[in-house]
Amino acid sequence: MQLLEWSEKCSVGIPELDTQHRRLIELLGELMDRVQAGDGDGSVAAALKELSRCAESHLHREELVLRVRGYPGYAEHKAEHDTYREKLASLELLADRPDFSVRLTNYVIEWWRFHVLTSDQQYARFFRGQSTTE
Ligand SMILES: [Fe+2]
Ligand SMILES: [Fe+2]
Repeated sequence: MQLLEWSEKCSVGIPELDTQHRRLIELLGELMDRVQAGDGDGSVAAALKELSRCAESHLHREELVLRVRGYPGYAEHKAEHDTYREKLASLELLADRPDFSVRLTNYVIEWWRFHVLTSDQQYARFFRGQSTTE
């Protein structure tokens, strides 16, 4: 499981969203530490809860920014966010299974790594291109 680390290649060029991505990356790191330390379900559950709060607030905000700025790939991007929401909701149904925390952690770490570096970069490229032609 490869953890995402903040670097310029994560930047989407929108300070507010970059700040949220940085925080999410930090939380993913904390979550992985707690899972690896096996320090008890209470602390992993708290990390997952905080991640899920920040994640939802970020996804919602990013959707708003993309919509307001008229991003042509909005529907597709929103669908990716919705897939994440649905997958998380379905994994939460398995909360009483012993491997629950590990499965959920693996999924969120992989999802955010791909999403921030690939999908979010697609809108970042679009807006960067727009600002050079304006
Ligand atoms: Fe996104
Ligand atoms: Fe994002």
